[in-house]
Amino acid sequence: MNRPLSRRNFISAAAAVSATALLPTRLFSAAATAPLFPAPSSATRRVTVRADSEIGVVRPEFHGHFVEHLGSCVYGGLWVGKNSRIPNIDGYRKQALEYLKDLGVPVLRWPGGCFADDYHWRDGIGPAAKRPKRVNIHWGGYVEDGSFGTHEFIGLCRLLDAEPYLAGNVGSSTPHELRDWIEYCNYPSGSTLSDERAANGSPDPFRVRYWGVGNESWGCGGNMRPEEYARLYRDFAVYCRVFGGTELYLVASGPSGDDTRWSRGLMDGLGWERPQGVSMHYYTGGGDVATSFTTDHVNEQLAIYSKVEEAIIHQRAVLDSYDHGRDVGLILDEWGVWDQIPEEDERRYGKLWQQSTIRSAVAAGLGLNIFNRLADKLYMCNIAQMVNVLQSLLLTDGPEGEHCVRTTTYHAFSMFKPHRTKTAVRIEADAPAPLGLSVSASKSDKELVVTFVNPHHDSDLHVECSIKGSDISSGKAQILHDADWNSFNSFDNPDRVVPKQHPVSIKESRVELELPRLSVATVVMPIR
Ligand code: AHR
Repeated sequence: MNRPLSRRNFISAAAAVSATALLPTRLFSAAATAPLFPAPSSATRRVTVRADSEIGVVRPEFHGHFVEHLGSCVYGGLWVGKNSRIPNIDGYRKQALEYLKDLGVPVLRWPGGCFADDYHWRDGIGPAAKRPKRVNIHWGGYVEDGSFGTHEFIGLCRLLDAEPYLAGNVGSSTPHELRDWIEYCNYPSGSTLSDERAANGSPDPFRVRYWGVGNESWGCGGNMRPEEYARLYRDFAVYCRVFGGTELYLVASGPSGDDTRWSRGLMDGLGWERPQGVSMHYYTGGGDVATSFTTDHVNEQLAIYSKVEEAIIHQRAVLDSYDHGRDVGLILDEWGVWDQIPEEDERRYGKLWQQSTIRSAVAAGLGLNIFNRLADKLYMCNIAQMVNVLQSLLLTDGPEGEHCVRTTTYHAFSMFKPHRTKTAVRIEADAPAPLGLSVSASKSDKELVVTFVNPHHDSDLHVECSIKGSDISSGKAQILHDADWNSFNSFDNPDRVVPKQHPVSIKESRVELELPRLSVATVVMPIR
């Protein structure tokens, strides 16, 4: 895709649909009447964490990632090659590996994106020197040498301890090609394809569970109508088999934003066939270049997260309305902020290279809070993208650059790490507006974790939080904050915006803290 068409469509499609009727009453009862950007009437916000009211497990996969052959995400970002002067481990950028290992990467999706439907996996196996050079038609028409292929991707996943998720080509390929890729990856030995894999250096099967069957098939993945895609999905799925005992989790290409026409058309067209997962993509567009947002555009972008929340609820309801639809996992396969991108930055650093500011971190916090609150409705969420593209976790100074910095978004993700594998619990709050205080909480036998996000650029909040159903008397808070919403971590000042300890008062299951404008704060409390 040559332009962020889908992003624009996502916003308008999402804004056009009202899912208010499907929203949980306590949390959203006033959403229909509240003004979009209300001036905060009081600087105090009161919330109650209902530790006695469970939602579902915060699956580590809610913190999943996505890498595409786009700009300097793979080539020059994660993959610098074994002979690079940039410190590397077997060709992977060492600094990136270290940062990503610290964060933990539960699942990693590859090779696209739009790129996936123009990728032929055989182009990326065998001796690197013999791999064909192909033009990347979606992202700038440059030539790729194929040196990062299936083995290199699986190697990256192994180094990061991430579950691999391969996106298959439906738009320009055949069921046979996808079937063979699965056999190549998963069959232990004795078939021509598995022996070829062994000859290419990997006698052990890759055991890849997650397989995307196309990407954005309504757009760059084939420009199809839902019934056309559903027909193709059925053709492909018949041949996607269990090889060597690895059960498959097939992901069908779902809607752009909250496009129910697509999801209903897909489910109707599938007939009795059920994928394990359906993906939706939802980008939150930005009116400005990342580092020079106006206040209006800050508000406008952050307010879209209430639409994201509605869209997830809405799409879940669509799936649930079909026989066995409840067994189909809802996957937010691509999400994040998509700001205006200066051509100069793209020339210097790569296509869709985008800075991440404290505003972006707050956006990430709003998204991750939503995933906790909707833990019973989601299966996996993958931020777009891991390095150097859109809302990335790491930035390098171009494909040749030696610098590698952790973005504010990286740090926002780290603030949510304590929630992983815990059970999300319900929140009771004043009726929120799209830009209200955002809260989520989760608990284990030992700990209660609460994350607060203040999306106001002009109002600090005093938060009073009561805990019901857990006995709490101590804890620690961390905060990610900068008073300048355009602040970011640069190559000269890589740690300008990092999490810091934050004062919090915790007495008799009552938590109080100051939440400055544009901040994400996580409080971790032992349960007595
Ligand atoms: O993440 C960038 C692009 O956005 C992906 O290639 C595509 O799936 C989406 O439109």
